[in-house]
Amino acid sequence: MKQYNNVVVFDHPLIRHKIAILRDEKTSMKEFRELVGEITTLMTYECLKEGVPTTEITVKTPLETCTQQVVKDNAIAIVPILRAGLGMVSGIHTLFPSALVGHIGLYRNEETLEPCEYYCKLPEGIEDKLVLVVDPMLATGGSACDAISLLKKRGCKTIKFMAIIGAPEGVARVAETHPDVSVYVSTLDRCLNENGYILPGLGDAGDRLFGTK
Ligand code: PRP
Ligand code: URA
Repeated sequence: MKQYNNVVVFDHPLIRHKIAILRDEKTSMKEFRELVGEITTLMTYECLKEGVPTTEITVKTPLETCTQQVVKDNAIAIVPILRAGLGMVSGIHTLFPSALVGHIGLYRNEETLEPCEYYCKLPEGIEDKLVLVVDPMLATGGSACDAISLLKKRGCKTIKFMAIIGAPEGVARVAETHPDVSVYVSTLDRCLNENGYILPGLGDAGDRLFGTK
């Protein structure tokens, strides 16, 4: 895949270890859900290294008073792409319990693979927040591109997109369509199959999270 300035692919042994278990068809729904949360927390730590709005506070230690940087209140909003993105929300809330959550419902038409929007509810004032759009799977990139476009239409200016597994096609599409958005994927897989599934991938993330198959 071409190199993009706005794409980060994690290469971390701990994340690789968890993804190996996540892929395994024998992994239970419970363990799958827990792993998605844990991987998201690890990704969030790295993803928020830059661009987080901070403010200065004064802290009195037992020895003296000092100035410290803290993350601004209500600075972050999470937007999961339904359904599978829901599985990543708890992983970010572990680090930022006060992050507001907006929801964008998209499903892929199984024949055209084009995303269809069926729901959108966003927190008031989202346009001024750092918005983390999350979806475990970045396949053709259609869903991610549409969700990001919708958020931009609503005035969002600072958007980061996080996926656990990305296909080269999808990563390239999001990176090129939205060069102002940072794209984070835990791992880059080989390609898509004829049905738009990621190979080797993990199957259908929504079904594995919610037990619908
Ligand atoms: C999956 C996944 C993404 C989308 C990725 O959702 O969670 O949202 O496909 O594919 P794309 O990059 O080709 O758009 P799906 O449409 O299966 O809906 P679900 O989460 O409700 O199962
Ligand atoms: N959506 C999934 O859940 N899995 C894929 O491999 C592709 C899209």
